[in-house]
Amino acid sequence: MKQTGHIKAPGNWINDPNGFIYYRGRYHVFYQHFPYEPRWGTMHWGHAVSTDLVHWEHLPIALYPTKPQDRNGCFSGSAVEHDGKLYLFYTGVRYRQENPENIHKHVDNDFESCQMLMVSDDGEHFDNLGSKHVIIPKITDPEVGDVTHTRDPKVWRGSDAWYMVLGSTRHNEGEVLIYRSRDLTTWELAGQAERPGIGWMWECPDWFTVDGQGVLLFSPMGYMKDCACPPDMSLCALADFDEATCAMHIADDGRFFDYGLDLYAPQSTLDAEGRRIVIAWLRMPGPVDEGSRPWWGMMCLPRVVSARDGRARFSVHPDVRAAYAHPIAAPSEAGNGGFRMTLELHEGETLDIGGYRIARIEGRLRADRSAVCPHNGKCRLVSETPEAREGDHLEIYVDGNIVETYVNDGEYTLTNAVYGLSDDIHLEGTGTIALYGLR
Ligand code: FRU
Repeated sequence: MKQTGHIKAPGNWINDPNGFIYYRGRYHVFYQHFPYEPRWGTMHWGHAVSTDLVHWEHLPIALYPTKPQDRNGCFSGSAVEHDGKLYLFYTGVRYRQENPENIHKHVDNDFESCQMLMVSDDGEHFDNLGSKHVIIPKITDPEVGDVTHTRDPKVWRGSDAWYMVLGSTRHNEGEVLIYRSRDLTTWELAGQAERPGIGWMWECPDWFTVDGQGVLLFSPMGYMKDCACPPDMSLCALADFDEATCAMHIADDGRFFDYGLDLYAPQSTLDAEGRRIVIAWLRMPGPVDEGSRPWWGMMCLPRVVSARDGRARFSVHPDVRAAYAHPIAAPSEAGNGGFRMTLELHEGETLDIGGYRIARIEGRLRADRSAVCPHNGKCRLVSETPEAREGDHLEIYVDGNIVETYVNDGEYTLTNAVYGLSDDIHLEGTGTIALYGLR
């Protein structure tokens, strides 16, 4: 199945991006996938590839449960290339108590997790029976981490060894475990990092350097208090890491990876030019019912990470921007993949994109999806950035069920899921709107 613009579930359910890598001339995005129903269940790794980050093709499912240790799911993880082969790291899950009515669900979080490796010779063939190994058994010491909630290995090559961050929880606080390996197969625990008060468990950690700055992306569970919404949010903090001691110092409390309501579990890799890029799951509050092929879940566009003035920034990937270069007069002229729009939105002005409203109020950008999100009660409807200081420029990508707003080329981003946008665009302001479809 082919898709243009955003990666969407090829049917049924997807969540986190996994194993994001540029390998043998193609970008690979694996993703958490339940192939039978548009809802979360026993996790498989779906697989999509692209040569240009714009045109995607979904390939057959890559990973699925085959071993006692991953019998209830192949949870999130990452990929690296070594000696021409693709190494996939993931969390194997085994339920201790399975829901008597639904074998795809556990009861009361009663499950255990271990970290597993699968090696593929070419990124196209995945031997689910012959090439899986447990590399880090379940954790049994609560002073290290949690037997249940330890997951999402992210591996990178350091100067002298391979390193892995793993999300976990200890004393009801989120933490990162750091492992080191010489050969990608034997791993030793080498460090722990935490910063109290930021959620009770950290999912999907990802550490990298960009512009000489160490950055930690992580997704704390229970971050939002007292709101009728998913309490888990993705953050981005500055963090130094010393390879010699495996000490990680998380320097601040983090800020949102994105100031909308839905992006979660971002994962980064390096692109063909060596840029640090990231994509994330759009945690849509409800499914899209397309007749015989309902689907639920999609990814944001790939973003380039940079660091300036003590914080990370996220701009749309230049190859994606360059592909949305065909001037159009109205949204109805856009094909698959939707459209890009640019404008200046000044203080006190409001833009309405088919019912999705973006206003500039006291310097902040506020998005309101009340009119285009029929899932009230399950999610929040209004969100806003901090005060934007670098100008009034907005670059917005609209593609069916997603609106991505880039403020001043990455000073802030604000992304939301939407349903049933109309084709009307209305600006209560003085700027000029330019619209572009895919070439
Ligand atoms: C984040 C997450 C991961 C886990 C996966 C399971 O959304 O909960 O921590 O590996 O999804 O699908």
